[in-house]
Amino acid sequence: MSATLIDGKAFAAKVRERIAGHVARLDEAHGLVPGLAVVLVGADPASEVYVRAKGKQTVEVGMASFEHRLAAETSEADLLALIRRLNADPKVHGILVQLPLPAHLNSDLVINAIDPAKDVDGFHISNVGLLNTGQRAMVPCTPLGCLMMLRDHLGGLAGLEAVVVGRSNIVGKPMAQLLLGESCTVTIAHSRTRNLAEVCQRADILVAAVGRAEMIPGDWVKPGATVIDVGINRIAEGDRTRLVGDVHFGTAVRVAGAITPVPGGVGPMTIACLLANTLTAACRANGLPEPDGLTA
Ligand code: GUN
Repeated sequence: MSATLIDGKAFAAKVRERIAGHVARLDEAHGLVPGLAVVLVGADPASEVYVRAKGKQTVEVGMASFEHRLAAETSEADLLALIRRLNADPKVHGILVQLPLPAHLNSDLVINAIDPAKDVDGFHISNVGLLNTGQRAMVPCTPLGCLMMLRDHLGGLAGLEAVVVGRSNIVGKPMAQLLLGESCTVTIAHSRTRNLAEVCQRADILVAAVGRAEMIPGDWVKPGATVIDVGINRIAEGDRTRLVGDVHFGTAVRVAGAITPVPGGVGPMTIACLLANTLTAACRANGLPEPDGLTA
């Protein structure tokens, strides 16, 4: 037996197609073009790659992309002044400040300076609070993408045992809240959890988001479980490197009912959900109905 592969690349392409259709209709009916501003401070090579991909896909779905590249030594005051300008700019519906920021900048302060209605990352404390109290929020992109794939694959999630391994603000915690919202029984496990293998073995839904290469072997997976692997880890193999997840794919694929591969699973869904959030923010800002199936 081998698990069904959940093809995030194909799913993300379908999501982007739906977004593009909605964006075209918004322009036609209301002359509204959703706009996403991405702010990159410094020249971290991985961040450069992400920011370029975000800009390209934003334009491909018909939205406006505004890129702001600032020098690594930019002061906090200058960065906050830019955010204030973007908050006030009616052409900008979504603002994303690429993390990590250089060490002299306080990320919490910067993120919380973004207008919560434009916080397409869902990192502002207002959005965290809204999500955690079951109110309408902007939801972090990676967990939103995982939720969309889970709903698509499983249909209803109510009553299922979900184990989230990882407790980050970006993935683990919001993922757990979203699964609670779906009426799963949710456990958040992490590097200090005792009997992690046994905890994972309970999971009908296992979400791995710890950032440690292949740390979850197949014998921690309940037979038939749905495994969502958020990890993207680069490991050396001879004189090359290879991308692997937090789950040991080769053994897990023989036990799970369904699994996301790395690469090509969760990764492509993250930017698709960023575009979804930007579209949602533009609709909300203009009092228009939100697109179906693109929110939590
Ligand atoms: N850096 C790595 N992932 C992310 C993300 O989802 N949002 C932002 N703003 N920065 C990141």
